Amino acid sequence: MDERYRPGYHFSPPSHWMNDPNGLVYYEGEYHLFYQHHPYSNKWGPMHWGHAVSHDLIHWQHEPIALFPDEHGAIFSGCCVVDFNNSSGLFAGSHGLIAIFTHADTCPKTGQPRQRQSLAYSSDKGRTWHKYEGNPVLTEIDLVDFRDPKVFWHAQSERWVMTIVAGDHARFYGSENLREWTLTGEFGQEEGSHDGVWECPDLFELPIDDSGHSKWVLIISIGDNPAFPEGSRTQYFIGEFDGNTFINDNSADHIMWLDHGRDNYAGVTWSDMHEQDGRRVIIGWMSNWKYANETPTGDWRGAMTLPRALSLTSRDEGIVLTQMPVWEIKQLRKESKSWSDVTVTQDVPFMIKTKDDLLEIEADIDIRTAGEVHIKMQSSGQSETIIGYDPVRQWLFIDRFKSGMTDFHPSFACQHGVFLVPENEKIKLHIWLDRNAVEVYANQGLVVLTDQIFPDATMNRISIGTNSGQVVLSSLHIHALQSIHIPNGTTEQTLGGDEA
Ligand code: FRU
Repeated sequence: MDERYRPGYHFSPPSHWMNDPNGLVYYEGEYHLFYQHHPYSNKWGPMHWGHAVSHDLIHWQHEPIALFPDEHGAIFSGCCVVDFNNSSGLFAGSHGLIAIFTHADTCPKTGQPRQRQSLAYSSDKGRTWHKYEGNPVLTEIDLVDFRDPKVFWHAQSERWVMTIVAGDHARFYGSENLREWTLTGEFGQEEGSHDGVWECPDLFELPIDDSGHSKWVLIISIGDNPAFPEGSRTQYFIGEFDGNTFINDNSADHIMWLDHGRDNYAGVTWSDMHEQDGRRVIIGWMSNWKYANETPTGDWRGAMTLPRALSLTSRDEGIVLTQMPVWEIKQLRKESKSWSDVTVTQDVPFMIKTKDDLLEIEADIDIRTAGEVHIKMQSSGQSETIIGYDPVRQWLFIDRFKSGMTDFHPSFACQHGVFLVPENEKIKLHIWLDRNAVEVYANQGLVVLTDQIFPDATMNRISIGTNSGQVVLSSLHIHALQSIHIPNGTTEQTLGGDEA
């Protein structure tokens, strides 16, 4: 049981509980991934920062726990930056990594929860950490929710900028040394979705297509609220950052979601990516506070989404964010099969059996004469997860009612989706199937759905069909992927199988 749902190519902790990604930073050839971690239980508890390092964002080396709770409390979410010019004064003429995070404890006088911002620093590429002796560095005694700082160097104003959330709004602070912070602006009390408490902000600039123009993106995760079936999810805003505050380009009631599945939360982006790289790469926690503590994974619990490169594109409805997994994921392809112009009808679906359960599926589907299209991923037992498209409602959805184990929480079994307009009467789907999850990217990452699933047995059958009319699979590629846990050249099974 313990390893049955261990993902083959999504990051997961070696054991025990994991939630948000933290401290994402690129430094001296290594990508760092820290994460909210409870090392003594598979449920949320006193937070530590777990740690892993990668050279390619795909294969991860687990490292010892980086930050432990201390006299100021548990270590909640936060970020890392490279202090290249020693503006903190903590690196004696050299440079190093600074973690800026929330210390969470209880105020001894009032007994109220208290959240304050603190620093830790590392001079050995993140392997050992020292808490700054002047912690906490930023306190707002009137704010009960005050957490998840994300910091970047703002070249125009020649200072560090911190974006942080306080319940129902984001706040911006400026600093020259990362130790003293001044409030410069606030955003959001009346803007976007307030279905839950605001958490885990991020703020960055991105080019719009190849127009030569750019915009700022503000990411805000919103916590679970029992009143909404979606649970915890992530919204984003597009606008400007003037060095002090964020200015929304859209009307206050315009809400944009980062992901339309149920399991992508607390996503933030890597700091200090290599200059020649230029990508803005995000990773999210692939779970949902509604049921995160109950998922049937065993001794370990929690996984990350695939790392995704973000872009902005201009559409009729305005400027929107698109996302696709980083190109490095392609190295996992070990065997591929392709088809073109396959017509499927209600009576004759396309079917393939595979010996592999780690799959990537690229499908260009002509829906001109189709009824509802169903891509079914089936196990050797009873489980079936459906990715569907309804051309009448122009609705792309995931149905995980029969996806396997669902009874650990009443909200888990569900169908949910998103409006998707076909392009030239086609929809283009790119799907990643892992042992615990499915990620669906449509029309080059214009919309994305990420969902956990817990099938009763290995997924070994893919069928593509329709409930009326006919569907043409203009092109279809299925790639068997190798696991990130197994070194190259070992005996993983191959795609093989029979086509029906
Ligand atoms: C988001 C969050 C953060 C907080 C952390 C605690 O999932 O609630 O706001 O810092 O998790 O683990």
